[in-house]
Amino acid sequence: MLFDVFTILPEVFPPYLESSILQRARQRGLIDVRVHNIRDYTHDKHHTTDDTPYGGGGGMVMKPEPVFEAIESVLGLASHLSKPQPVPVILLTPQGRVFNQRVAEELARYERIALLCGRYEGVDERIREHLVTDEISVGDYVLTGGELPALLIIDAISRLIPGVLGDPEGAQDDSHSMGLLEYPHYTRPPEFRGWSVPEVLLSGDHGKIERWRREQALLRTQQRRPDLLEKAVLTERDREFLRKEER
Ligand SMILES: C[S@@+](CC[C@H](N)C(=O)[O-])C[C@H]1O[C@@H](n2cnc3c(N)ncnc32)[C@H](O)[C@@H]1O
Repeated sequence: MLFDVFTILPEVFPPYLESSILQRARQRGLIDVRVHNIRDYTHDKHHTTDDTPYGGGGGMVMKPEPVFEAIESVLGLASHLSKPQPVPVILLTPQGRVFNQRVAEELARYERIALLCGRYEGVDERIREHLVTDEISVGDYVLTGGELPALLIIDAISRLIPGVLGDPEGAQDDSHSMGLLEYPHYTRPPEFRGWSVPEVLLSGDHGKIERWRREQALLRTQQRRPDLLEKAVLTERDREFLRKEER
């Protein structure tokens, strides 16, 4: 999968992309991240990418010309409108739809996506109206720029791409992927400061372990995120377990 990132701060990306799982995924050709500096698409001496807002007020606004030129020349003039698979041009903005595991799964189906990182007060509205095809927020808080949101989205999507995680089943049980929070994990030693690993995990009985994990996931979700249970796919056995726990 190819990610094209458009930013005025390209230097913030390499440290994260050149580490651990994403570095291996890039080396193995499973993902490719191309970071494009919007300043390279300016034509004035100072490489200006922002200007004061019409109507006054504080802060600066990202100018439309370099952003249009950068995205159009990288994607090809009409490529994000082309068939059969258009390239979504995603603006990172606190005003967008909120990113979650479902959105990550939806975006992981594309072969290529473009991520536009705003700065200052954000981008000129004509970019949003005439260039961008989707708007994503990473939560109800405001950051100084779209670079961390872009990395966050690249990370969440990449781990869904087959082969990126060492264990092919690794992502299946993760919190949110099945609509529940994940069960607790333990590793060696079996006892630490008097705190023991639950017996069942040492039993070697895979059926029992699976059931225990399912119940722990149900319990955690009930205690911490009961809102998720409303949409989760539950068996009759799951419901019975939750009813018993409630009593
Ligand atoms: C200071 S913010 C601009 C906020 C804007 N004035 C507003 O109130 O909607 C600068 C840039 O950071 C990015 N950003 C900040 N918070 C974000 C969030 N929660 N999700 C995604 N991007 C965010 C966006 O790219 C945004 O253009």
